[in-house]
Amino acid sequence: MVNGHSENEIVSFCIDKALEDLPAMPGIIIRVLEETEKSEPSAAVLEAIISSDQAIASKVLRVVNSAYYGVQGRVSSVGQAVVILGTKQVQNLVLSAAAMSSIPTRGVGQSDALRSFWTHSYATAAAAQLIAKAKDLPSVDSETVFIGGLLHDIGRLFLLSHFPDLYDRAIERASDAGGGLEGYERVFFGTNHSEVGAAVAGRWSLPEQLVAIVRDHEGPFKDEASVPVLVVHCADALAKTLFGTDDKLLKFDIDPVAQDWLGFGTQDFRNLREEASERVEQASGVFGLLSAA
Ligand SMILES: [Fe+2]
Ligand SMILES: [Fe+2]
Repeated sequence: MVNGHSENEIVSFCIDKALEDLPAMPGIIIRVLEETEKSEPSAAVLEAIISSDQAIASKVLRVVNSAYYGVQGRVSSVGQAVVILGTKQVQNLVLSAAAMSSIPTRGVGQSDALRSFWTHSYATAAAAQLIAKAKDLPSVDSETVFIGGLLHDIGRLFLLSHFPDLYDRAIERASDAGGGLEGYERVFFGTNHSEVGAAVAGRWSLPEQLVAIVRDHEGPFKDEASVPVLVVHCADALAKTLFGTDDKLLKFDIDPVAQDWLGFGTQDFRNLREEASERVEQASGVFGLLSAA
């Protein structure tokens, strides 16, 4: 108790305050999203939007010139990058770059935690895209689940960045208990990363489908659950067995409704796991580039 307030009340006040102080999603992201969501996005308009932000433009160029894309010769203009990558890829890049720099990270010694956070997020995004392909979903859903996968645990990043010591204690307790990190988030923060993430996504005015993924990805599900949320849930379950904030804490835990919908057998899961882990390996260079200032 401090001045008649319980620790939980103080933490919840601090969470509200930190949410209020969170920078709004930069206007450039909103404009990129608006353009790429059109049925025929214009490469010229995208080029103009991206070129107006020096930091984002240079990240896009750094990434397109990285070994990951294997482009012959040097790409020196954003216009060329948009043509090479395609509008949807550019949208993913810009959103990822913005998400990574929008949450201020404090505390020394967090870089490992952050690295494994983004590895888990990217693994989820890659697995989600593979599931979308296996289930023959339209390409618009495939892009949504990729970004959704990347951002699904944004609430965890928020808690981890703003309350590193408290979050460490939650991890420790869950580790001692052999799992149940979400439950310990509730104990220490009076909320969990899905609720906090939904607040962050709302603050950024992300499209409703993305907000739903962030809010509902942990399940449980009823039969009428939305497909992109189910995809990200399954991808997350798989990614937890690959890499993660802490492998032992995040066990493979797939919701029965989601598993039914997915209809994967053991061999399908094994293949998916292998492909997703390959993609993560290939992309780790890109992520280094994106998270650099
Ligand atoms: Fe999660
Ligand atoms: Fe996750």
